[in-house]
Amino acid sequence: MPNYILDQSFPSERDRLDAMARNWDPGTLHIVGELGIGKGHRCLEAGAGTGSIARALAGIVGPGGQVLAVDRDTRFLDDLPAPAEALSADLMTDDLPPASFDLVHARLLVAHLHPHPVALERLAAAVAPGGWLLVEEVDWTYADRSEPDEPVHTAMVAALTGVMTGFDTTYGHHLLGDMLDLGFTQVSAQFRGTQSRHERSWLPWQLLVEQFQDQIVHKGLMSAGDVDRWWAVTRAQAHLVAGPALFAVRARRPTS
Ligand SMILES: C[S@@+](CC[C@H](N)C(=O)[O-])C[C@H]1O[C@@H](n2cnc3c(N)ncnc32)[C@H](O)[C@@H]1O
Repeated sequence: MPNYILDQSFPSERDRLDAMARNWDPGTLHIVGELGIGKGHRCLEAGAGTGSIARALAGIVGPGGQVLAVDRDTRFLDDLPAPAEALSADLMTDDLPPASFDLVHARLLVAHLHPHPVALERLAAAVAPGGWLLVEEVDWTYADRSEPDEPVHTAMVAALTGVMTGFDTTYGHHLLGDMLDLGFTQVSAQFRGTQSRHERSWLPWQLLVEQFQDQIVHKGLMSAGDVDRWWAVTRAQAHLVAGPALFAVRARRPTS
């Protein structure tokens, strides 16, 4: 099974990652604050993408801290502010510094990595005693609903699920179970999401469809006409649409 199917070289992939960061960063940074991450702390941002969280963490930990932004594709990470630095590595094969970080954060990553529990164990191994693992993953369970109901959107979400092999679209609600198996303490989960008729909710879908629509038609999952109808629906912005729910699970490594 392929480990990562989204294409960083696709022209709008940077826009898609930026749109997701705008949606999710405030909530992520709120949780980081709840975990007590601050000056002098050491953080690992796993699957850092465009580096929006790594940049924010650099400000939070300050010059005496450390932020290691790891991605197997570091093309968007060449201008990180100190003390953040980028590391090009594959999290499933390259070992991370063991027991070294006060926070290890991964968002929209583990659902692409297989087996998921192995990916979590590899991230957990980098957490220092007393440090936190924070993992955030989406769940598309309600994401195919629109109001009023629009079957072509439901069909599009099913078609995207069909072409995005290797990406587990409902991993969000399984994540807590896997995190409970790590042997960490203070494990808890919450989830968040948006519903609106505006670009904020539609744009992430549009950027995903741009990337996969040719494959969707080629595989016969939707006709070209239905894909065009889906675009007309999203541009009209007359329907309320739910973005995917993001499940955030935190867990603390015991101090001994
Ligand atoms: C969907 S993006 C999410 C980016 C960022 N975490 C965010 O929430 O905006 C997933 C990122 O994980 C990276 N990635 C995927 N598989 C990886 C692996 N095996 N090792 C390291 N990075 C990986 C991709 O290159 C991509 O930047």
